[in-house]
Amino acid sequence: MFDYPIFEMPLLGHRFLFAFDAILHVFISHGAAVGGSIILMLSQWLAIRNNDRKLDELSYKILFTFFILATAVGALTGIGIWIHINIINPAAIGALLRVFFWKWFIEWIVFNVEMIFLLWWFLSWKSAPLGTPAKAKNFKLGMTYAIASWFTMAIITAILGFMMTPGNWLKSYFPAEPDYLAALFNPSWIPSLGFRTFWSIAWASAMAMLLSWLFTRNDTELRQKAMRLYGTVLLACIPLFCLFGAWYYDQFPQAAKDLFWMGAITRRLAAHPEYATYLMVGLSSMVLAGAVSLYAKPKRTPLVMAVIMLFGSMGLIGEFERVREFVRKPYIIYDYMYANGVRVADVPYLNKDGYLKHAAFVPPEFRSVTPDNKLMAGKYLYQMQCRYCHTVNGINAIRTRIQGMDEQSIFIRIGALNSPATPFMPPFTGTEEERHALAAYLDYIRVNKVESEDDLVKSSAPVYAH
Ligand code: HEC
Repeated sequence: MFDYPIFEMPLLGHRFLFAFDAILHVFISHGAAVGGSIILMLSQWLAIRNNDRKLDELSYKILFTFFILATAVGALTGIGIWIHINIINPAAIGALLRVFFWKWFIEWIVFNVEMIFLLWWFLSWKSAPLGTPAKAKNFKLGMTYAIASWFTMAIITAILGFMMTPGNWLKSYFPAEPDYLAALFNPSWIPSLGFRTFWSIAWASAMAMLLSWLFTRNDTELRQKAMRLYGTVLLACIPLFCLFGAWYYDQFPQAAKDLFWMGAITRRLAAHPEYATYLMVGLSSMVLAGAVSLYAKPKRTPLVMAVIMLFGSMGLIGEFERVREFVRKPYIIYDYMYANGVRVADVPYLNKDGYLKHAAFVPPEFRSVTPDNKLMAGKYLYQMQCRYCHTVNGINAIRTRIQGMDEQSIFIRIGALNSPATPFMPPFTGTEEERHALAAYLDYIRVNKVESEDDLVKSSAPVYAH
């Protein structure tokens, strides 16, 4: 248990850094790759059917942009996600690998296929003029790319769905006889896949509309054609993802549904859930206003409307991912593992036997609490159980969260982290002495602005001093 190195991310914290990388990745993977491949396949097909050279050229220019975004930003942030999750929560990745190993492996193969066909489609586009058999072949490359991109999303969505609704998998005997099918066909997989598929297409259409505006400065006829085409796709997708979204929402556990408004804004504004409604309505209006005016009056609508539409879409996507991650709290895998990597089933045992005792990367002399090592033991407890969501001084700073408390009230608060007031926090895990050690450390950093290793490690830690 807890046999991974401890890595603390000062100031920004793990949550923020991960969210930044992951949301950037979603913009690109869903827009430039999954949705982008589908809409560009569609416009290439129309160009072939109508022998429309201009539409063919415009589609190529959009593909060029998507290609750069997918291979540069998409690939880098994708690797970033792997590094982040391995640092933040290796225990959760371990659990997911045990359940999804082969599916993830297949996903990696399919991702390679995706990248090869993207390259092939893009690089052979120009050498396959309209009206030649080579063009029909080039179109098939695009189709393969689109299918492969969608397939990678389907697998990742199954894993994300599993983390929120492990469903019947929890009833199977793990690890001896896990029900892999129940994990894959977890209740939110299909609805969330439908939801993501249609908003990816809509989002890619919004990106394509902005790019089309830029690429058709001297050709308003072509601009009109592009806006009508991508605008129709965008507007047609809205009812579809709303429908799948409602079905998806329906699968969430009640406790997660209860956190929705808080997830949409910050906790300090939670007393005003109407702010979250204003935010959603505002962002949706930005998207609709841009899309409808570009569709209805393509020749007269200024670029700023396309930019507004794009920012509105990014806001909505970012909000969706943020809320989805927030409402899963206090779990990383619902009902199975807490956000800080402690398995729910292990809590009673660890409360009795001690948490630090099982922490392989904590030096042995801090694995049981004594009056001399108390502060340092408390620091390890903080790092292992709280730094997933808190920093000492930066974002969601623990120091400001405990202002005005003394050691005793901190001790009491730690005993009720998972109370109805803060249901998004996992309970503290460990013995009474460990809870005292954490309270002592938190009280120490509350009073002292700067941590001194000397204070934390008193004279009795010979191994550590080496
Ligand atoms: C899953 C994420 C998560 C973990 C893990 C977590 N917290 Fe929190 N904690 C939060 C959030 C979110 C808030 C609310 C911040 C705000 O008010 O905006 C919070 C608030 C708090 C507060 C203030 C509570 C109040 O009533 O205002 C305290 C104290 C606190 N955390 C202590 C801890 C301690 C100690 C640990 C480790 C044992 C811990 N937290 C672990 C997410 C977490």
